[in-house]
Amino acid sequence: MNAHDPNKVFSPAKLGPITLPNRIIKAATSEGRSPEGKVTQALIDFHLGFIQGGVGMTTIAYCAISKEGFAAPGEILMVRENIDGLKKFTDTIHEAGGMASAQLGHAGPVATKQITGVQPLAPSNFRNPSSFQLCREIKREEIKQVINQFADAAEVAADAGFDAIELHFDHLYLVSSFFSPWINKRKDEYGGSIENRTRFAKEILVAVKERVKDRLAIIIKLSMDDGIKNSIWLDESLITAKILDETSCVDAFELTMGSSVKNQMYLFRGETDLDGMSKTQKGIFRLGVKWFGKWVLGEYPYEHLYMLKSARQFQTVVKNAQLILLGGINDYSHLQTAMQEGFDFVAMGRALLREPDTINKMKENPMEKGRCIQCNKCMSSVYWTTNCVFNADYATSSKVAI
Ligand SMILES: Cc1cc2nc3c(=O)[nH]c(=O)nc-3n(C[C@H](O)[C@H](O)[C@H](O)COP(=O)(O)O)c2cc1C
Repeated sequence: MNAHDPNKVFSPAKLGPITLPNRIIKAATSEGRSPEGKVTQALIDFHLGFIQGGVGMTTIAYCAISKEGFAAPGEILMVRENIDGLKKFTDTIHEAGGMASAQLGHAGPVATKQITGVQPLAPSNFRNPSSFQLCREIKREEIKQVINQFADAAEVAADAGFDAIELHFDHLYLVSSFFSPWINKRKDEYGGSIENRTRFAKEILVAVKERVKDRLAIIIKLSMDDGIKNSIWLDESLITAKILDETSCVDAFELTMGSSVKNQMYLFRGETDLDGMSKTQKGIFRLGVKWFGKWVLGEYPYEHLYMLKSARQFQTVVKNAQLILLGGINDYSHLQTAMQEGFDFVAMGRALLREPDTINKMKENPMEKGRCIQCNKCMSSVYWTTNCVFNADYATSSKVAI
């Protein structure tokens, strides 16, 4: 099979120490199915649907490494006391012939005191323009603590039987907010040059690798560009990727863009669902989203494969790790394009929320078109139970902790 064979997408493929049944990964879409921070039947059923629908590996999203790291309600807390439920999750996925990845993150400036109970952290004192939360500068001893929490969480994931972890270095959550000169004004070795702004991420990565060794694959979800003036853009994110790649601790980069702090539609493209987003807020904030939402969230037309042009830039810089293409992958022809372009894997979010079995449909009929219309009504559902509005019947199983 030639390296750029478009049809290899359905064949097994090595990703670091593991071999996936195919090259299709369910991208992290925060589930809202864990009200106590623990695995529930609803969470298992949600992910099982993607594996039964033909995906090689599903990503349990967003697992906080600590309570202060939660970004939204109903997320998993990746700590040892939750390991029994996590094992049940991975056992079920494995029995169905798939693989399981866990996204590990700390929300940092995306967190709110209402959810975590504490003031959100950022590289420097910073007012989040979407939540209006005043974030305080993380202290050096807290940086060390977060690095340890990432390593602890990675070890729990390995012990629970996960095949991969995905380090959440994107969307201006804590780690990627260090990359951003807009947020990071530090004067110590974690601020200033891009090498310094990458230091925190590198220290987390090395600590995680030392802890888990080759027990699972390590994926980094990396921001290429967040669409915010004076923040993260390709010139510097390519340097970040190079620094992280040179550690030889990364098995794959999943390349993303956008932010959860401002300009959120830069990541999603398509319709800005102000009605849905306003319902996630209370009182005056609800009206604020309706009146000023487009200004804060931004408006960007949707295009298939909209991250491809930027992701291509990483192919010449990343020498050790594999690359996962994300963003607007909807039809079989997009999977083929990703392979022809030399990407190793694809990750899909909304297309799979719309049709968990879209991969099986593509195998049966390569001309089949994905049915996601990028209405983005799934975005606000993360505050209750993440689902596509056309496919809400999969959001009904039990949310009691296992
Ligand atoms: C409802 C929803 C929830 C999401 N939650 C997460 C998340 O928890 N972590 C993350 O890194 N990305 C999250 N994303 C972003 C997706 O992983 C993906 O990057 C984005 O949707 C673009 O891919 P797509 O065009 O295939 O949907 C979410 C996306 C959606 C639609």
